Amino acid sequence: MFKTRITEMLGIEYPILQGGMQWLSKAELASAVSEAGGMGFITAASFADPEELRDEIHKIRSLTKKPFGINVSMLPVLMEGDITRRYVEVIAEEKVPAVETSGRNPEPFVPALKEAGVKIIHKVPAVRFARKAESIGADAVTIVGFECGGHPGMDDVTSFILIPRTAESLNIPVVAGGGIADARGFVAALSLGAEGVVMGTRFLAAKECPAHQNFKEWIVAAQETDTMMIERSIRNAVRVMKNEVAQKVLEMENKGATLDELIVYISGMVGKQAWLNGDLDSATIAAGQCVGLIHEVLTVKEIIDNIVTGAHQILGRLNGIMQ
Ligand SMILES: Cc1cc2nc3c(=O)[nH]c(=O)nc-3n(C[C@H](O)[C@H](O)[C@H](O)COP(=O)(O)O)c2cc1C
Repeated sequence: MFKTRITEMLGIEYPILQGGMQWLSKAELASAVSEAGGMGFITAASFADPEELRDEIHKIRSLTKKPFGINVSMLPVLMEGDITRRYVEVIAEEKVPAVETSGRNPEPFVPALKEAGVKIIHKVPAVRFARKAESIGADAVTIVGFECGGHPGMDDVTSFILIPRTAESLNIPVVAGGGIADARGFVAALSLGAEGVVMGTRFLAAKECPAHQNFKEWIVAAQETDTMMIERSIRNAVRVMKNEVAQKVLEMENKGATLDELIVYISGMVGKQAWLNGDLDSATIAAGQCVGLIHEVLTVKEIIDNIVTGAHQILGRLNGIMQ
């Protein structure tokens, strides 16, 4: 049994969340995580039309009776115009249990979400943004470190520092992400003051993840040195797998390329195609340093069960050390 303010708040068995992953975290993956005792999140940005998101919410409800959430990413490159407001309307109307917001301050949407009883977990890469999230009424904050797949912010501070700094700075519960892929990272995050963890990269290599098998095999073979940071020059730093496109983008950035010149390589639509056709070198693909810790493609249930049993074993070992 695990009991933290996160398990209590979300009504879940284990404080293990699956972070939103555009194009990938749809009903199949998210429901598998919720069914296994954690909480899965569907990424709203995978659906061009908010009504398609509503259909996906109905789909996940047919796959699991357990709580799930929706990720609302608000990075300008992902979200134009008022589509975020329309996603939020659907989420509120459907009374989804929780949202994972990211990329921008979710303050304009807090009243509507609160009124609908939706728990707000805002994901940030820095302590100052975590404090801000608490001040505007977020129910919890997810802090992601420099190791994470996706966007770790611009400060280059690792999870080992950010988790305790965030936990000591807030009153609301903290979820930790970035570099967590197994029981060791899970126990470490809880030791550092987190009350839950979020994982993205580990769930990429889950059987239920719709990513092409080539990506899963790449993760299993990859070392911790096989990711890299790009898009710093446009203040949209992102950790991705080290492939031909990422290296080209970095080279262009070093030569002063503009967003317009970069967009053909970094646009999400290119990534969508790659996830489906399995071409490892055609798009920039988010992945965290914990690829080096992932040695097998497993089912979501195996991933979560291994963390739970592994955590008990680690605690036993620690008790043996601290006599
Ligand atoms: C392939 C991939 C796609 C992602 N897409 C999103 C996204 O659309 N929105 C978002 O908020 N986070 C996104 N993330 C970040 C994850 O939700 C999570 O915060 C991160 O993966 C945690 O670090 P980890 O990769 O070390 O587990 C993505 C991560 C990966 C690996």
